[in-house]
Amino acid sequence: MLLRLRPPAIEDEAEVRAAHAELLDERFLFLLHWEPERCWRDYVEELERRRRGIAVPAELVPATFLLADVEGALVGRVSIRHELNDFLLREGGHIGYCVRRAHRRRGYATEILRQSLIIARAQGVRDVMVACDVGNIASQAVIERLGGELEDVRVGGDGIAKRRYWIR
Ligand SMILES: CC(C)(COP(=O)(O)OP(=O)(O)OC[C@H]1O[C@@H](n2cnc3c(N)ncnc32)[C@H](O)[C@@H]1OP(=O)(O)O)[C@@H](O)C(=O)NCCC(=O)NCCS
Repeated sequence: MLLRLRPPAIEDEAEVRAAHAELLDERFLFLLHWEPERCWRDYVEELERRRRGIAVPAELVPATFLLADVEGALVGRVSIRHELNDFLLREGGHIGYCVRRAHRRRGYATEILRQSLIIARAQGVRDVMVACDVGNIASQAVIERLGGELEDVRVGGDGIAKRRYWIR
């Protein structure tokens, strides 16, 4: 499978906005810390600063945000956190991903997580925490396929129980 993780570019704006709107219908954020009124170019530059750990707001951590591209189609995205803060340790995890509905059940999320583990390790993260909502059987299957060991189940800030895994 030719799935490539790459940074967002200026030309991606329309497709990314479409993906964001689609995922919002499922109450999932394709873009993090984003408002539709925001200038896309500024946002892309901010993502690059976040990746390099420059001027990261106190409540956030350095992170790599990448789009998943399959032969030119935007199929999903991933956010790879280089470290954990209290919120991420409790429920957010090191890696958060999604796949657009039209592209699901083709192994893309599994491939996104597989490649993201390599990127996280390159950032010096040894043990990777990944969490999913109880009942999110697709994400649970992805995490367990990649060797996730369940630590516990905790209710998150949104009132939904999360399965917390470590991939060592
Ligand atoms: C979770 C999500 C990323 C899965 O993406 P995907 O590309 O479809 O996942 P994959 O194809 O790699 O694997 C999913 C596996 O989960 C299981 N699965 C997926 N959907 C399923 C369903 N409706 N019923 C039963 N099992 C299901 C299957 O085992 C499947 O593998 P298979 O198709 O080989 O049988 C996607 O559904 C999504 O983006 N959801 C919304 C956002 C989200 O929940 N992100 C994860 C946050 S932790």
